[in-house]
Amino acid sequence: MSTGTPLTLRVTERLDDRGAIARIRLEPVQGTLVPFTAGAHLDLHLVENTLDLWRQYSLCSDPAETGFYEIGVLKDPVSRGGSEAVHRLAVVGAELSVEGPRNHFPLAEDAAQSVLIGGGIGITPMIAMAKRLHALGRDFVLHYCTRSESVTAFLDTLRAAPFADRVVFHFDDGAADQKLDLARDLPAPAADTHLYVCGPQGFMDWVLGAAETAGHASGQVHREYFSADVDLTGEGFEVEARASGITVKVGPKDTIAKALMAAGVKLEVKCEEGVCGTCVTDVLEGEIDHRDQFLTDDEREDGDLICACCSRAKGARLVLDI
Ligand code: FES
Repeated sequence: MSTGTPLTLRVTERLDDRGAIARIRLEPVQGTLVPFTAGAHLDLHLVENTLDLWRQYSLCSDPAETGFYEIGVLKDPVSRGGSEAVHRLAVVGAELSVEGPRNHFPLAEDAAQSVLIGGGIGITPMIAMAKRLHALGRDFVLHYCTRSESVTAFLDTLRAAPFADRVVFHFDDGAADQKLDLARDLPAPAADTHLYVCGPQGFMDWVLGAAETAGHASGQVHREYFSADVDLTGEGFEVEARASGITVKVGPKDTIAKALMAAGVKLEVKCEEGVCGTCVTDVLEGEIDHRDQFLTDDEREDGDLICACCSRAKGARLVLDI
């Protein structure tokens, strides 16, 4: 279901929804769409003048839909330019280069109970999940938290959805008893209950912390970060790219990926924030200072994978299998 081959999709419909969220329908210029599973995202290649970025956007269309993909993109003036570029470039008729779909946030489709929690633009993968769970006839609830009803994208769509009775809206400026109350709204931990969360980092930290405190097993709590604040500070260290026969110094505030690529090592990066997994590289020697949001706790403990776009060394040297 995933492809690393770029494909060209045409914007065939665009709705500028509440909350500065553009809902963009994409259809293939040629051929048919690659099927996707709920939780998957597309990598969009955004090229405009000196801008050349890859950004990831979750699919919110129905996985059963074979004619088009839909994504929702928040115009975020404090982002690094990707979302504003999408808002400028994705006009009806425009062609966009994409890769994917890829799914790092898959749904446990056989769970007896699923609780989906989306904050702001983090609602997008949850909509695809809700559609899939509804099609499967599973028990689920979708909690959607926003600042205010007036900035709630997908509001009308969700209120008209065949699973509308499973959607609970929570508005920050609304009455106290309708706000998300994790003590009340998280289910009791159970072997066949799965939680999913996506949204701004502070929101996710809050939900994930509450889920852990409540005793939900980490393997049943699923998360997807859209972006993350990355701490690049730290002492300098050395990195050997063994297969390439190149060793570089990584200075304070520099990154392994940038240092290696500047020296001619081939390494692919996309988000540069430790959330997409594109830059994950095998580590042969050395201790890793993980700064990403992509690797699981088990992968961190194994200590043989690193997100080279943001993570660092705890010691003086790392050896990578690249
Ligand atoms: S480029 Fe996305 S995790 Fe490193």
